[in-house]
Amino acid sequence: MALHRLTTITVGVPDVAAAAAFYREFGLAEHAPGTFETSAGGEQLRLLPATRRGLVELGIGADDPDDLARIARALDKLGMAASADGTALQAVEPVTGLAITVTITPRTSAPAAERVTCNAPGRIERANRPAEGVLRNDPVRPIKLSHVAIASPDHEATIRFFTDGIGFAVSDRPAFGAFMRCSEDHHNLAVQMGPGTFLHHTAWEVADVDEVGRGGGAMIGADPARHVWGLGRHAIGSNFFWYLCDPAGNFAEYVSDLDRITDAGAYEPPMWAGPQMVRAWAPPMPPEFLAPRDLGEVLGELLS
Ligand SMILES: [Fe+2]
Repeated sequence: MALHRLTTITVGVPDVAAAAAFYREFGLAEHAPGTFETSAGGEQLRLLPATRRGLVELGIGADDPDDLARIARALDKLGMAASADGTALQAVEPVTGLAITVTITPRTSAPAAERVTCNAPGRIERANRPAEGVLRNDPVRPIKLSHVAIASPDHEATIRFFTDGIGFAVSDRPAFGAFMRCSEDHHNLAVQMGPGTFLHHTAWEVADVDEVGRGGGAMIGADPARHVWGLGRHAIGSNFFWYLCDPAGNFAEYVSDLDRITDAGAYEPPMWAGPQMVRAWAPPMPPEFLAPRDLGEVLGELLS
């Protein structure tokens, strides 16, 4: 029938123990060493030792064997190989070397989040009591893996692999890349142009903006050097965000209120222009958001 979600990502890091400590603190549950679960998505992150940080594998969930057959045919048409059995298909995106595994797996659904109230002039939703978000004191726990963003030195070819080959739908297509989905989420994968291949960020969905703020605040309260950018709201996708940096240099984003596309025919991407497309409102974007601290290493590897 269709692709329906991201399943698990594998991220390579030079120091697995340090990265694992970060993601435990970020709110993921480590159910085996280096393997993490979200509250509604099951196992969604594996850390592997690697000489340089990067996304090693992207897992995608599909409904049935017809989906795997369709992907195998589409990749063949593009001149790309795939290996498949009755339950999974494996391929490699040729520009970035990213391994893709599409698995037939049941759909998951997160329990409906608590409806939070919001007072405004002329509209009282909550009287005689404080806001729900200010009374929370439990640790923030991401509900599911929302999306990943990667840079590719030939982003058009990488985007084609995911749209024409794997079957992602394009939600927004700014000049610098594409925001693509394999579910009703506005984007599960963003591919941007880059001087080399690198993982820009992984993004983890929490219930609401209070959870984004509580999570980001706790992470930089423990170590201010983790702060990258936030709290803010993207225009593309509409989501609230706060980006943090893990010990390997990967950005990890808390996300809430991402757009959902339930009817592709009814969705018209706005004509975004200028920096507002990335930043509806937020503190100024730090340079490292566009050029991560280890970009020199990425470029060095290209030149060597
Ligand atoms: Fe993001």
